[in-house]
Amino acid sequence: MKYLRFKSKRKISYGMQHIFNSDLSYVLKSLKQEKITQGINVDKFESNLSNFFGSKYSLAVSSGTAALHISMLTLNLSKGDKVLTSPISFLASANCAEYVGAEIDFCDINNLTYTIDPEKIESKLKKDKKIKAIVVVDYAGHPADWKDLKFLKEKYGVRLINDNCHALGSRLENKKNYAVKYADIVTQSFHPVKHITTGEGGAIITNNKEIFEKAKILRNHGIERKKKDQKNKGMWFYKMSYLGFNYRLSDINCSLGISQLKSLNKFIQKRRFIAKKYNSLLKDVKNIILPFEKKGFYHSYHLYPLRIDFKRLKIDKKVFFEKMFKLGISLQVHYIPIYKHPYYKNKYRIKVKNFPVSENFYNQVISLPIYYSLSQEKINYVCKSLKSILCK
Ligand SMILES: Cc1ncc(COP(=O)(O)O)c(C=O)c1O
Repeated sequence: MKYLRFKSKRKISYGMQHIFNSDLSYVLKSLKQEKITQGINVDKFESNLSNFFGSKYSLAVSSGTAALHISMLTLNLSKGDKVLTSPISFLASANCAEYVGAEIDFCDINNLTYTIDPEKIESKLKKDKKIKAIVVVDYAGHPADWKDLKFLKEKYGVRLINDNCHALGSRLENKKNYAVKYADIVTQSFHPVKHITTGEGGAIITNNKEIFEKAKILRNHGIERKKKDQKNKGMWFYKMSYLGFNYRLSDINCSLGISQLKSLNKFIQKRRFIAKKYNSLLKDVKNIILPFEKKGFYHSYHLYPLRIDFKRLKIDKKVFFEKMFKLGISLQVHYIPIYKHPYYKNKYRIKVKNFPVSENFYNQVISLPIYYSLSQEKINYVCKSLKSILCK
């Protein structure tokens, strides 16, 4: 396989940021402003996010995890409540419920879209009145079945959180405002592998004023500064009624976010272009399943999850990974089902037989490299390398 070795010494990773020169100059300008935190760039980033999502409110926070934690608190979820989520997600989608003392429960995914299955949710909702909220993940950038989820929300009175960390710019029926339309709260992450980055960072997006106002207080230690109190008690006066956190995002991060958001369409077009290339280069490979885009759904391809039937091919997934790595390609798996991690396994004694789709998906899935600067040459190389191992 020597002839396949890629010229560059650097590994092709599954994802990475792309920083334009315009981003650099925008961030540099922000550093020269009087306030580098709690300043005008935070407000501007939030208002640009609201414009993008068609939402009434947006709040920039320090990470996607912080956004999920605050979401749980604004919905008053705590001990005695249960929260459902998909096992095929990053740990934070479940951990957020644990932070507030609620119980987490998992629901299997749909075998085509890899998002949480509404039918399976309903059978849980019928039996378990403790379920108060569902953290729905638009996995890889494919929106979940939001219409069915909205139906369940109304029928059973549960709250919906859209963990939209993979899906900035995805659409449902050609509308990118689907996220705030269907969910009570939408959360974002601006980690470097995501569609846009602020270094670390996240956001809460909602149309609900009460949720927004509570989230704003929780982001800043639980501190409230009311004009009326300051007039009566002194200009310095503030009070803390809830236990909050320092989950603020600085003006430096927000300025990168403002600048990156301008390039979002470009980022998504490129990701869709790469996905299309992979689809056409791999379409004839046997025993694999390409990612699916349901009619009326617009995939933003944060990930390109490829399913390989390693069992049928009689190839070990671990060995396949190592061979690709030796060829200079650093793949990833999204994700190890959350219930398999010792914390959850020991705490909830989960039976894997309840998750046949997630189990099978985990055995087969790998994430191919997908990011803005991935060249045509590298796309070809990834496909050629993959075929050299799978098609003997
Ligand atoms: C689906 C999902 N939810 C939540 C998060 C957490 O975001 P952050 O890393 O910004 O805390 C991530 C990040 O990888 C994610 O992929």
